[in-house]
Amino acid sequence: MKILITGGAGFIGSNFVYYMLKKHPDYDLVCLDALTYAGNLKTLDEALKNERFTFVKGDIADRELVFELFAKEQFDIVVNFAAESHVDRSIEDPGIFLKTNILGTQTLMDACRKYGIKRYHQVSTDEVYGDLPLDRPDLFFTEETPIHTSSPYSASKASADLLVQAYHRTFGLPITISRCSNNYGPYHFPEKLIPLMIANALNDKPLPVYGEGLNVRDWLYVEDHCKAIDMIIHDGKVGEVYNIGGHNEKTNIYIVKKILELLGKSEDLITFVTDRKGHDLRYAIDPTKIKNDLGWEPDTMFDDGIVKTVNWYLENREWWETILRGEYQNYYEKMYGKRDII
Ligand code: NAD
Ligand code: DAU
Repeated sequence: MKILITGGAGFIGSNFVYYMLKKHPDYDLVCLDALTYAGNLKTLDEALKNERFTFVKGDIADRELVFELFAKEQFDIVVNFAAESHVDRSIEDPGIFLKTNILGTQTLMDACRKYGIKRYHQVSTDEVYGDLPLDRPDLFFTEETPIHTSSPYSASKASADLLVQAYHRTFGLPITISRCSNNYGPYHFPEKLIPLMIANALNDKPLPVYGEGLNVRDWLYVEDHCKAIDMIIHDGKVGEVYNIGGHNEKTNIYIVKKILELLGKSEDLITFVTDRKGHDLRYAIDPTKIKNDLGWEPDTMFDDGIVKTVNWYLENREWWETILRGEYQNYYEKMYGKRDII
C-alpha cells in the first residue's frame, strides 16, 4: 500500500506520519508539503530515517508537480491534510486560504481521477458547521448539521468539502471526509491556543485570552484523530462524512488556567484582549456515527493528554523556541501588538 500524505510536515499530518509508520510496517508513505511557515522538516527528522518514508517539497495547487508525482508513485490512497489552518490568519489575508484549501484540493482530486486511486480522504473540520449557542449544551454537530461557516478559513474548508462531494457524485471518485474537533498534542504550531499559552507562560509573557475566554472548544488528543483517519481510510464507507470528537468541551479560560496550574505559573499572566472577529462561540461534536460504524473511540482523556502535551513542550524547547525566534516574531507583533487589553 502506498499512501500520499499531504501537509505531513505540519501538526496533525506529522503525527499521522508517525502513527502510520508504526501501525502499518508494510506501507510506503510519501509526504508532499510546501513547507509554509507552518511546515517544519525538523518535525520529520525521525521519519526521514525510515526507508519507507519519502518527503517531497511542493505545493498541492501546483498542477504540474502534483501530476508528475502521481504518475511516478501510483498512490493507492491520498490523505489531504495540507491547508492554511489558522482562523486569525484567514481574517488578515483570506486569499491564500482559497488557493490552498480549495484549488489545492481540486488539483489533488484531478490527479486522483487521472491516475486512479482506491481512496481520496479529505481532512476537514468541525468549523464547517459554524457554531452552537453557549446556552444550549444539548446541541451537537452531527453529520447532518447544515454547513454554515463563519471565517474565511472555515468557508474555504467547507468549499473544499462540497467540491469533494461533487467529485464523488459527478465523477465517482472514491472519497471520504472527516470533520474533527480541536486537536492538541506534540508539534502543534505555537500560534494556536494551547501551545501559544504554554510558550508564553514558560517565557513569563502575558497570555492573550480573546474576549472573556468563555468560548468553548471540544479538545481531542491528536493521536486519537490519527487513529480515526486510519480507520476511515480502511473501513469507512465511500462517499461518507465522519465526525470525530471525544465529548471534551472546555472554555478557553479553563484551558489557560489549567496550563498555568501545570506549569506552576501565576494567573496574573492572563490578559484579556480584543475578541476575534466573528468568533465562533461553541463547537461540540456528536461522534455517534464513527463509534457505531467503525468502533472508534478516543484512548487519551483530556487530563492525561494535557499533561503529556505540557511535558512534550518542556522536553522539546528547541523545537518551539526555533519557531519563536524566526519569522513568527513579526507575526506575533502584527497580530497581538494591535489588540487592546480589555
Ligand atoms: P498546520 O497548519 O499545522 O499544517 C499544515 C501543513 O500543510 C504544513 O506543514 C504546511 O507546510 C502544509 N501546507 C500548507 N499549504 C500547503 C500547500 N499549498 N501545499 C502543500 N502543503 C501545504 O495544520 P494542522 O493543524 O496540522 O491541520 C491539518 C489539517 O487538519 C488541515 O486541513 C486542517 O483544516 C485540519 N484540521 C485541523 C484541526 C486542528 O485542531 N488543528 C482540527 C480539525 C481539522
Ligand atoms: O475546530 C477545529 C479547528 O480548531 C481547526 O479546523 C483549525 O485548523 C484549528 O486552528 C482550530 O481552530 P480554533 O480557532 O478553534 O483554534 P485556535 O487555537 O486558534 O483558538 C482556540 C480558541 O482560543 C478560540 O476560541 C480562540 C481562542 N484564542 C486563540 C488564540 C490563538 C485566544 O483566546 N487567544 C489566542 O491567542
